[in-house]
Parts: sequence; structure tokens; C-alpha cells
Amino acid sequence: MKGKILVTGGTGYIGSHTVVELMQAGYGVVVIDNLSNSKIEVLDGIKKITGVAPEFHNIDLSDEGATTAFFNSNKDIEAVIHFAAFKAVGESVQKPLEYYRNNLSSLINLLIGMKGVGLQNLVFSSSCTVYGQPDELPVTEKAPVKKPESPYGNTKRICEEIIEDTVKTGSAKAISLRYFNPIGAHASANIGELPIGTPNNLIPYITQTAIGKREILTVYGNDYPTKDGTCIRDYIHVVDLAKAHVVAVERLLAGKNKHAYEIFNLGTGNGYSVLEVIKTFEKVTGVPLNYRIGARRHGDVTAVYADTSFANHELGWKAEETLDSMVLSAWEWEKRLQMNN
Ligand code: WQD
Repeated sequence: MKGKILVTGGTGYIGSHTVVELMQAGYGVVVIDNLSNSKIEVLDGIKKITGVAPEFHNIDLSDEGATTAFFNSNKDIEAVIHFAAFKAVGESVQKPLEYYRNNLSSLINLLIGMKGVGLQNLVFSSSCTVYGQPDELPVTEKAPVKKPESPYGNTKRICEEIIEDTVKTGSAKAISLRYFNPIGAHASANIGELPIGTPNNLIPYITQTAIGKREILTVYGNDYPTKDGTCIRDYIHVVDLAKAHVVAVERLLAGKNKHAYEIFNLGTGNGYSVLEVIKTFEKVTGVPLNYRIGARRHGDVTAVYADTSFANHELGWKAEETLDSMVLSAWEWEKRLQMNN
């Protein structure tokens, strides 16, 4: 077996898919999660895929003592992938202090814990939201970071700066992965997105509407300056995203990183409008979707999609799944959820 990797937030959506890819790549995996926005049953889903459930610790990273104690009793960890954070854009506008306290203190405690045991390798879950509305599209890693519209997005920007300043002291090497719009679910339909309550994001809202859990999807505005008036995003399959995390960890473990702090955009390079996603859903599933056009949502940018050339070239990684397969996998997962409940 390869080295042991700590995945914080490993029972979450992207975290759980990354745990699967790490285990299938031969890594030992330890998961830390406080289950504030995920369910312990996710470990069963991972076990159904890999045959083994990862080691799990119910720890809240905002508790510095518990975090440091964990590292002091787990000195064989060779790298950390940090997902654990609050991540609902709308909620962050309502509860900014909770978002700043949780997301920033969790990262700071993690970095302190890592430094205490001389653990250097960190992969950080960041977001294209740090670009705001880019001046140019597709957006490259060299694009200026703007103050994001939401406190959630701003915590991602500030966390990147905390990491960069920590790396400058020589105590860490880090890679920030800026995700575009992660969607879909593992082909086995044993793990997937588990929004608790009303979904904020487009795809789970579509699948919940199609399966009858929601009455109707509201398209947030069709008066944007785009081909059909609806916003454009770069949707990327969560498994493609997970695979990029394995590549990033291996880059650090092998010392192949060219700089102590590196940033990569993780997208497909393709932008799709909301209406195109809806039409794709109806095409691949054969299920007509009940939707209406409503008012714009505050904070939405008109269009954002990635220039993926740096990640493709430097990481040797490229997203492979099509929008059809992403949307279909989300639908298969929604049907599995209904069957299990
Ligand atoms: C996509 C498009 C909406 C719901 C955010 C964060 C990003 C990441 C993913 C966490 C937009 C439209 C949506 C609905 C709609 N967050 N929409 N009706 O806002 O691009 O990205 O979530 O990791 O960091 O910024 O994703 O799925 O919410 O919206 O019309 O019911 O779908 O207006 O144009 P978003 P989203």
C-alpha cells in the first residue's frame, strides 16, 4: 500500500469521491469529518465501491486541541487534502461570521497541527468563485482574484492567502485546486451529492424536481447577455475532479511541484447555459422537466468557464466526462436515493 492520506471533509460530496479514487489508487485513507453537512452512512457507500471503509474520526477542525491531538497521534500521514468547510453560497450571506469563523479557523488549526508534526503536503479545495466575473473568458490561473460576491467565496480567497503565507515560511508545500461546477455522481450510484434540505445548486434541484421531491425548478433569470439569456457555467464531473486530487497529491509526494505553492483550475473548458443543462437532462433521461423563468439570483455571475491548459499540461490531467454522462449519473443517483428511502 502507498502512503497514508488525510482527507478532511471526506464524507462530503467531493471528499467522498476523492476518498474512493485515493483508495483505488492504493493509498491508505484517514477521514476527518464533523458530520455537520454529511452523513456517516457515506462510509458504507465508499465500502460498497472499494470493499473497505476508510478510517474515520469525528473531529471538528475548529477545535484546535482536538485537531492537534489528532496529528500527534497520527504521525504516519504523508499528505492532507482539505475539503472540510461550510460551502452554501446563499447561507454564507445570511451567516457571514459563522462562515469566517468555521472556514478560517479550521484551516488555521489544520496548518498548526501539520506544522507540529512536520507534515508538509497540502492540497486545498478552492473555487472559481475567487475570480468573480472574470474580465476575460476562458479564465486562466493568472486572472486577477476579485473579492467574491459571497462570504463563502471570500473565505476561499482568504484561505488561499493564509496557505500562501504559510508556504513562504518553508513549513509547507501546497496546491490549491480551483473547482468550477462539480456535478454528477459515482457510476456505481453508491455515493453522490447529498444536499441536506433545499438544494442550492442547479443539478440536485433538477433531479429532485424530476423525481417529484420538488414542485418546479426556477431558472434564476433569462435576461443575461448570453446565447439564450441564462447563466453559463463550466460543469465538471465529480469523479474527474476527484482524480485530479490524486494527481495533485502524487505531485507533492514525488516532489514534482515546480513551486512551493501552485494553483490549478479544474474545469472542462466548456461553458453550458442553464437552459442547455435542462435540455440535456430531458434528452438523456427522457424525463420532461417542470421549470419556470424567475428573477435573477443575487451574486450570480453571467458566465465563467475555465482555461484548462495549465492543469492539462502541468498535471497531465484532463476532464473526460461529457455533460450527458454527468447529468445522467446525477439522475441515476437521485433514483438510487429514492429507492433507499
Ligand atoms: C449554477 C447556475 C444559477 C439553482 C456555486 C458556488 C461554487 C460551488 C458551486 C461550492 C447559476 C442557476 C441554480 C436553481 C438556477 N460551490 N440556478 N436555479 O452558483 O455557479 O456555483 O456552487 O462548492 O463555488 O459559487 O452553482 O449550481 O448554484 O448555479 O437557475 O435552482 O444555475 O443561477 O446560473 P454556482 P449553482
